[in-house]
Amino acid sequence: MEMKSHLKEKRSPLHPSSPSATLPLRTKHACNMSNNQPFRWRTIIEVAVISIVLYIIVGAPGLPFSIFKSTGDSEQNVPAARAKVESLVHPDPGLKCATHDFAVHLLDTKPLVVYIEGFLTNDEAQHLIDISANKWQASTVFNAGVETQDDSVRKSEKALIERDEVVQCVEQRALAFQGWPRDTYIERLWTQRYNTSGHYSYHYDWASGSKWSRRASTFMVYVGDECTGGGTHFPKLQMPTDERWCRFVECGGDGDEGVTFKAKKGNAVFWMNFDADGRGYEETIHAGMPVTSGTKVGLNIWSWYQRS
Ligand SMILES: *[C@@H]1O[C@H](CO)[C@@H](O)[C@H](O)[C@H]1NC(C)=O
Repeated sequence: MEMKSHLKEKRSPLHPSSPSATLPLRTKHACNMSNNQPFRWRTIIEVAVISIVLYIIVGAPGLPFSIFKSTGDSEQNVPAARAKVESLVHPDPGLKCATHDFAVHLLDTKPLVVYIEGFLTNDEAQHLIDISANKWQASTVFNAGVETQDDSVRKSEKALIERDEVVQCVEQRALAFQGWPRDTYIERLWTQRYNTSGHYSYHYDWASGSKWSRRASTFMVYVGDECTGGGTHFPKLQMPTDERWCRFVECGGDGDEGVTFKAKKGNAVFWMNFDADGRGYEETIHAGMPVTSGTKVGLNIWSWYQRS
């Protein structure tokens, strides 16, 4: 059902009733009437021109992103997705990235949850912080499809980062990690900054997905860890028993259920949001715990599955 309404929404602007498609028809029709009604002919042209201008001002909904929002060659041929997803990208296939080693530790298989040690190098983490400077803006949340700011739900700042080579290599690393899944794109990357008292309350990343269009997976990457607090808490995941995990997760708990990953610079938590049938995993509910001092910088890498 979700998919149908989405497709309908997506296609309607390209339907013959859209302003751009009807212009020739209206003009022709008006021309036929113009012998007797010259003023009407002019009015119709004006209305048509104003409609087209308004259509472009509102961002030309329904047309491929590359037409009006050209932000890089590799964004071409990416299908238009739901309005909420501002931009889907795919790293340039010709991109040459240095080989990069990291260690993986499996926490769970259903859902798949993997801890990645050294997902980013220190230089890459620093670079992400550098290119975020001067771009910070208050984070927002979506409430019934409407974007709002609500400090009780989410208190942080976000920065839309330029897709330079370092960033595209991070995108490529994320896709390679997942085995280059088909019909899967990366959502444009934003860094997130959490100052003291910054947090993000319990939520799923999979809200409002469908079998054909969804945020398939998440990497929660820790980019800056000069803070106390600020771990990522999954109340429905099972705490691992081996104490070697205590490097990465809060141990000797205060009775908190589930698993809290510590914010550790360069490391990441990866998980799948949906099962093969497109059902969201309840176990992936999580929160960004309040930062009690200092500043945490994070990076979400969301992979979006889109069948067109
Ligand atoms: C967060 O901290 C940085 C400095 O660490 C500061 O520049 C910025 O204004 C702070 N943001 C908010 C929303 O207080």
